[in-house]
Amino acid sequence: MLGIIGAMDEEVAKIKEQMQDVKIRTRASMDFYEGGLNGHSVVVVRSGIGKVNAAMCTQILVDEYQVRAIINTGIAGSLNADINIGDIVLSTDALEHDMDAVAFGYPVGQIPRMDTLSFEADPELRRLAKEACEEVNPDVTVFEGRVVSGDQFVSDKAKKEWLVEQFAGYCTEMEGAAIAHAAYLNQIPFLIIRAISDKADDSASVDYPAFEAKAIEHSVKLLLELCKRL
Ligand code: ADE
Repeated sequence: MLGIIGAMDEEVAKIKEQMQDVKIRTRASMDFYEGGLNGHSVVVVRSGIGKVNAAMCTQILVDEYQVRAIINTGIAGSLNADINIGDIVLSTDALEHDMDAVAFGYPVGQIPRMDTLSFEADPELRRLAKEACEEVNPDVTVFEGRVVSGDQFVSDKAKKEWLVEQFAGYCTEMEGAAIAHAAYLNQIPFLIIRAISDKADDSASVDYPAFEAKAIEHSVKLLLELCKRL
């Protein structure tokens, strides 16, 4: 069983439409859609926005559905001038950019008393997702890099520059690293697939609504093709 998490209704609606034999269960105010997707057994769920929702959702997928891997699909702000609106970022790793225990000697982003700064995505899922994307989104460039997550919609040039300097992130969003963190604690492979909706700078709040739908289309197409290949 594969767990698929999107933060918002818009991000999971198109995936749910493609599912067969759906059974719905509600836990922690989240609706879990269990069924078939392109020949694969999946559970699709809208977690809600932010790190706490995402982490709780991941744990429920592990405890109630014994998922063997988790994919987080959705949209993100670009942190790299080469990565344009509509392009896709696959996570190499993910970290929480708003974790700060610098006062105790930890690098910013590192969770105190954990043995890692960032959480590594599964290389095999990454490879398959890259192949799938090149097949179904030939006009879109796929990048592989670090996803930095925080409970903040980044729409400020100075904050964006700080994220790039501190973490060399490729994109920023609000759930991926929390899912990665929960997957790490449960020793479950994960991958974050994000299509770029904005540049996480002063134009972000204008670009985001304009490009949200297109970006979601790219990430959903990729996910459907990935399911075929798993
Ligand atoms: N999701 C999409 N764009 C984002 C941004 N700029 N910051 C945080 N999350 C996002």
